[in-house]
Amino acid sequence: MRAQAIDLFRATFGSDPTHAASAPGRVNLIGEHIDYNGGPVMPFAIAARTVAMVAPASNGWLELVSAQGNGLARVRWDGAVPPGWAGFAVGVARELLRAGVAFDGARVAVASDVPIGAGLSSSAALSVALARALALQAGAELDAATLIGVAHRAEVDHVGVRCGIMDQSIAVRARADHAMLLECATGAVRFVPLRARLLLVDTGARHELASSAYNTRRAECDAALATLREARAEIGALAEWPVESLRTITRLLPQPLRARAKHVVTETARTRQGADLLSKGRLRELGRLLFASHESCRRDYACSAPELDLIVRVAQRAGAWGARMTGAGWGGNVLVLVGPPTGMARREAVVRRRIASAFGRRYGREPAITLVAAGGGARPERVA
Ligand code: GLA
Repeated sequence: MRAQAIDLFRATFGSDPTHAASAPGRVNLIGEHIDYNGGPVMPFAIAARTVAMVAPASNGWLELVSAQGNGLARVRWDGAVPPGWAGFAVGVARELLRAGVAFDGARVAVASDVPIGAGLSSSAALSVALARALALQAGAELDAATLIGVAHRAEVDHVGVRCGIMDQSIAVRARADHAMLLECATGAVRFVPLRARLLLVDTGARHELASSAYNTRRAECDAALATLREARAEIGALAEWPVESLRTITRLLPQPLRARAKHVVTETARTRQGADLLSKGRLRELGRLLFASHESCRRDYACSAPELDLIVRVAQRAGAWGARMTGAGWGGNVLVLVGPPTGMARREAVVRRRIASAFGRRYGREPAITLVAAGGGARPERVA
């Protein structure tokens, strides 16, 4: 990706970039739709990354080119937020300025192998890589919290996606070979070694309605919280509701708010328990939580898709220890826990074969299946 981004920069601007940075995509092990409800999530970074090459440009201008886009875009960062990925660049530039970074203008070339719209957080990989590269260009060393905040506000306040903090946090802070338990209410982080044989299965399904459905779920969670707070004013976030008091939720909330709140409360408990199980190497029990998490996403949060459900079902029948959709849902990828890290070659082959053939029979195409490991977070890149 780095070489591709450099070539693109030179071919487009006829000069060399001065600074560069990259940031990874991510998989969420467990804790889906919990970040914006103030609970725990447990993502890890994948090998796929977005690389941003930058150099100064005249004041007020962003000159943008992407290996996946078509041609050069010139936009002013103090003007209206443009559609597409240029909007992320404008958001990042404005938030850097707000954070006190002396930024004038930039030429930017971007290359990425994080698939877009696949639930692997291509947008946070982009905004974090941009923020890091542009900060380097301005000679500023941002701490992790500031970088996360800049990238997050770029999306929420400028692009207009009401996402939580999970994706930007893992893109900045990820540690190789570890999953990161992040308590979104406090920002507390615990790294847990990720010793497991994991597959990522891409359904290829990219649902257009995903962002509107996402915002609908957020609104439903807000409404559920508002009603529950009439009974218990001290509860500040939906994920704070104790799992022992699920019956109160049933009594107080109408559908579909009841189902949404039930997912949040049970998923919160599963995520903390999952982190414990992973740290003790109890992968079979962790796997059961992954299946339960998927079922909760499917039935209660209604954020799954038939393609995802099929893969989870087949993986389970083929002997995988766990499987669930990962990311916002309504399409995208399934994470499959085959078993422990070694000695799993035969089971892995069976799981792969059964998924490929069942999916092929139903949808007439093969899903991409890859082995995944936890990679590192955002970092500076060489420019030559
Ligand atoms: C998207 C959002 C995250 C998170 C997940 C669902 O990836 O960007 O903030 O809410 O969906 O867990």
